[in-house]
Amino acid sequence: MTTPPRWFTDTKEGHSQWYIERFRTMAADGADLDGEARLIDAMVPIGSRILDAGCGPGRVGGELHLRGHRVVGVDVDPELLAAAEADHPGPRYLVGDLSTLEIDEDPFDIVVCAGNVMVFVAAGSEGDVLRRLAEHVRPGGRMVFGFRRSEEYPYESFDADIAAAGLTLDQRFGTWELDPFTDESDFAVSVLRVPNA
Ligand SMILES: C[S@@+](CC[C@H](N)C(=O)[O-])C[C@H]1O[C@@H](n2cnc3c(N)ncnc32)[C@H](O)[C@@H]1O
Repeated sequence: MTTPPRWFTDTKEGHSQWYIERFRTMAADGADLDGEARLIDAMVPIGSRILDAGCGPGRVGGELHLRGHRVVGVDVDPELLAAAEADHPGPRYLVGDLSTLEIDEDPFDIVVCAGNVMVFVAAGSEGDVLRRLAEHVRPGGRMVFGFRRSEEYPYESFDADIAAAGLTLDQRFGTWELDPFTDESDFAVSVLRVPNA
């Protein structure tokens, strides 16, 4: 890792533990935390190979595992991965940086990159993240990214990186419930297509 992710440089001491506890509390309170997993589950057949990119404490990948998919979760933060193993066992969890990702196994049918991961990777590494993730997806497979509008990584830069990586933007929505994306949307769910071989 040359430049560390913003997740480490732009957050306060104790942020990872705060994030873990925040989701544990919401789960205990019965909050609906599965919106992203429901959408991905609807996009692929049961038993699909799914990469949860920047999986954090395992909320999304854990639910996809329960829904019958074969899930690998990758994250750069070992503290969050320990929580994932404890709170959402089932997927295979790996420590790794998405911008240099190398997983030596069969390609994935779909990548889910939820929870603003793209605004927490190292500045300037976003294109590498797209390329490395696409390398791990089968021809014609898809990648779904959900992240907030931000000055750090505007959607215009994302779109330029998508094109430079040889990927296609199939659809863009404003929420994980597929509300329309507009110029006023403060969040985007972007569905990218990896080219057919
Ligand atoms: C806000 S959390 C979201 C976690 C999870 N996807 C969720 O929805 O709960 C952002 C995550 O991005 C991860 N991350 C940031 N940069 C990364 C990188 N270069 N490689 C892998 N994970 C990264 C962080 O470690 C953190 O788990």
